[in-house]
Amino acid sequence: MYLGIDLGTSSMKCLLIGENQELLKNVSSKDIPLSSPQRGWSEQDPKFWIEALDECLQKLTKEFHLKKIKAISFSGHMHGATCLDKNHQILRPCMMWNDTRSHQECSEIMSDQSVLEISGNIAMAGFTAPKVLWLKKHDPKLFDKIEKVLLPKDYLRFYLTGEFFSDLSDASGTYWLDVGKRKWSTTLLDASSMKIEQMPNLCEGIDQTGFLKKEIIDRYGFDNQCKVYGGAGDNAAAAVGLGLYEEGDISLSLGTSGVIFGSTKNFLKNYHDAIHSFCHCLPNTWHLMSVMLSCTSNLNWFNNSFNSSLEEITKGLSLFLNKEKDIIDAPYFLPYLTGERTPINDPHARASFHQIGIGNDRTSLIYALFEGISFGLNDNYQSLCKTGIKLENIYVIGGGSKNEYWLKLLASILNRDLAVTDASDAMAAYGAARIAHIGYHNLNPSEVLSPPEITNTIKKDNHHFELLYERFQNWKNFYTKN
Ligand code: XUL
Repeated sequence: MYLGIDLGTSSMKCLLIGENQELLKNVSSKDIPLSSPQRGWSEQDPKFWIEALDECLQKLTKEFHLKKIKAISFSGHMHGATCLDKNHQILRPCMMWNDTRSHQECSEIMSDQSVLEISGNIAMAGFTAPKVLWLKKHDPKLFDKIEKVLLPKDYLRFYLTGEFFSDLSDASGTYWLDVGKRKWSTTLLDASSMKIEQMPNLCEGIDQTGFLKKEIIDRYGFDNQCKVYGGAGDNAAAAVGLGLYEEGDISLSLGTSGVIFGSTKNFLKNYHDAIHSFCHCLPNTWHLMSVMLSCTSNLNWFNNSFNSSLEEITKGLSLFLNKEKDIIDAPYFLPYLTGERTPINDPHARASFHQIGIGNDRTSLIYALFEGISFGLNDNYQSLCKTGIKLENIYVIGGGSKNEYWLKLLASILNRDLAVTDASDAMAAYGAARIAHIGYHNLNPSEVLSPPEITNTIKKDNHHFELLYERFQNWKNFYTKN
């Protein structure tokens, strides 16, 4: 058996596969709390990651002997700064991928334009380097104590193995990596006053990064020969789950963030529309992706704020979908709860409803909510189209991939059919388990990375597209930079 551990923003998933990469079991933890002590800040205490991991492993031990697990790998939310002191203790809560406090530091890092060439990306608030530079300015005492900075899933690896490693897909999101050469860049490290000794070792996703610590083996009954592999940032891991490592098909992830991901054969620098140009987790491959900071988090925000549930708002959407007149009269929603990366790269943007009329009711707001998120995704998709990479079949993954009404609306807005596969809501965990399997047997990815079976194809509706296209043009006008 092979274990994939996926540290998601809202919960953890642990997934087991067998020798044929077939799914054996998928368990989830309870929700992991996220705090926002100030506007634009987003933090998570790593102790909750360890608790979530324990909860998932305890669930697995009820049905499986973990001794049978030959290899483990990881997926996790990217960019988070997990700072450790010289005793390897955590110095402060992790500053997360959707924390936008460090926008000023991004400009400072980019004041020397050579960083763009090396990184292949513009520096965006949320990346690791600007956050650490923010710490240097705002908490210099803490900054001086930093011995290591780890990405979130790499902290789990450290907890399980005592080793410091990061794979290249996740390391790309730090802004300390020479993405083309696949190694740490001293120029980029200098730009945020960091040293190479403060970095973990680099590895490909399928490289071995050690064995489990004795106390972990004893606690859960693992075999002492169980090997631990590099893994990937969550979007690259999900791509491996879908078998996406060559240019062509793409994934569209409807999770806390909304991400469209396409593999590339070469490193394609990109400075436009806040597209991300990163290493893939498999050797000699890269990828481009668009990132929308708030995707399903808008739905959670609405449900928490207006005392509703996913069932209720999904029903609301279903009632609206075929009523052309209601759609024409519906309000609009901008989904920028935590600022936005692609395409506007504006950490100060915020969510808003527009054009609410006296005739609009709660259901029309619910419709606007789903439509506004989908328009944001379309904006991302249009930016990715501009890069010229192939965008063949679109596989939808993430929690939102289970919502057929939303997918119908999205297919019509994107004017594309959407494919849904088995385990679409646990694709990053499945990818992590696949990475462990490939690494353990030293397999050629091209021989084993077939896409999972398509269980549903959502067809676009041409008639709806025209109406929605007009609304998309109107929607674009509501955003203005402050
Ligand atoms: C990618 C990104 C998010 C996080 C959380 O750049 O910030 O997708 O990885 O999922």
